[in-house]
Amino acid sequence: MRLAPSKKGSSDPNEGAAQVADPAHGARHIAIIMDGNGRWAKKKHLPRALGHKKGVEAVRNIVRVAGEMGIEVMTLYAFSSENWSRPADEVSDLMGLLRQYIQSDIDEFDENGVRLKVIGNYKALDSDIVALIDNALERTAKNDRMTLAIALNYGAQDEMLRAVQSIAAAVKQGELEPDQINISHMSSALDTADLPPLDLLIRTSGELRLSNFLLWQAAYSELYFTDTLWPDFDKRELQRALKSFGDRDRRFGGR
Ligand code: IPE
Ligand code: IPE
Ligand code: MG
Repeated sequence: MRLAPSKKGSSDPNEGAAQVADPAHGARHIAIIMDGNGRWAKKKHLPRALGHKKGVEAVRNIVRVAGEMGIEVMTLYAFSSENWSRPADEVSDLMGLLRQYIQSDIDEFDENGVRLKVIGNYKALDSDIVALIDNALERTAKNDRMTLAIALNYGAQDEMLRAVQSIAAAVKQGELEPDQINISHMSSALDTADLPPLDLLIRTSGELRLSNFLLWQAAYSELYFTDTLWPDFDKRELQRALKSFGDRDRRFGGR
């Protein structure tokens, strides 16, 4: 079992040991906006597609690392609902990589106890990808070491709209009064309903925005921005982000 980090000012003699024993620094759920594949390729005078390919290698590595660190949930922003506005050949490269990734890594997910989850309206992707995803979701459903949630055709505004629509339908059915709707109804209607609260949200490549990612879930998440481009994001970078998280004083509006 993973040791929880000790509270500041604790007189626990094992305090130091507990810190070392928890490489996740108490973070259960981390999310990453994996940005900068295009700039990585440009810097190296390579085609953008190669940047995305390197990006997939970084994903593979970081999923392994997160599992070893005892992170319970890792949510990765892979394709936004706004990314459809990219040139058709780039969208097609990204979908091709997604196909390959699911097919090539599903065995490893199973071996390492990784449960796959998808957030976002993935049913709108090509039907063969939807079938691959559905198969992978079913195959890994009982794995319980780590959840890898991939955001595909995901936009937080779209997610919240879909949640509101499902709540409105319940109201129409007479299952709920409008003034009974509470925060927990919303949380339960989102794609992340079964996930623990988001502790840490990381964005690579120096951009300081959320780009429509997890807007509801990030209400009290700690934010971490790094200039590192996604293909260069490795174990050391993740350790740095988690160390920074561990040093934060989370107050949740209290004092
Ligand atoms: C992130 O890299 C990958 C996706 C959005 C799919 P980008 O492709 O956005 O790379 P930059 O931001 O242009 O460098
Ligand atoms: C956010 O990156 C989406 C993903 C990482 C999948 P973008 O590159 O699409 O974001 P903007 O356009 O810079 O805001
Ligand atoms: Mg980008």
